[in-house]
Amino acid sequence: MDLKQLVAKEVLSELESRIGDMKCLGIGSGTTVRSFLSFMPRSILQEVMLVPTSMDTSLILRNLGLTSNLREPGDATIDLTIDGADRITRDGYAIKGGGGALTREKIVRYHSREFWIMVDETKLVDDLTSASFPIPVEILPFGFQATLSLLEEMFAAKVVLRVLNEKKLGPIVTDNGNYIADVFIEKAKTPVSVVDLEKKMKSLPGVVECGLFTTPPCDRVFMAKKDGTVYSWNPSKGNVNS
Ligand code: A5P
Repeated sequence: MDLKQLVAKEVLSELESRIGDMKCLGIGSGTTVRSFLSFMPRSILQEVMLVPTSMDTSLILRNLGLTSNLREPGDATIDLTIDGADRITRDGYAIKGGGGALTREKIVRYHSREFWIMVDETKLVDDLTSASFPIPVEILPFGFQATLSLLEEMFAAKVVLRVLNEKKLGPIVTDNGNYIADVFIEKAKTPVSVVDLEKKMKSLPGVVECGLFTTPPCDRVFMAKKDGTVYSWNPSKGNVNS
């Protein structure tokens, strides 16, 4: 079993002990979430409303025959959202958007009573601006070159317009019809606090959403370790992984 499967199984057993209290679940995006869904019993998926955070997750759920219980934010109170992350700190701040789904993920997260993150220990960092992973930023196509320059001037050593996939030339287009800029932070240009960095990036014209998830921190982090154990902690309650 790989680390994504390991953490997904642990989260599932925690969820099963609480599912009786839940009516609606937010379902994140990415390969860890895919593992999680592959273990999730059909009975659970059918008995609650589900709010997917991307077209990818929506398609997975639809392919499982789940259509009548799919919802959007605002249709119902989301009791809990379970998602992956690209990087996480001990105080529960994350970088998300490696799969380009950051904007919908942030909307769903914001409207959820609880937010759990599943990661493996390679994703735990002290500092989200350490450039071990660029910060994904969703930007509007209109004026995108100006927005890329602005991001570089204000925060970055390098900004890369995300281009992928031999089967689609040109920039990748998000589920919302926008582009993704991967921002490799230059620390000397950024505010001291990552919370302020998120606010500043988000305030730029042309920026739709920023892949920093700082405020509030996630409620629970589940982290799979190479020794085969899963460690969990509750950053929003001040309980940090030490
Ligand atoms: C999707 O846009 C992302 O935010 C994912 O949640 C994040 O990239 C983690 O993905 P993996 O589980 O594939 O590492």
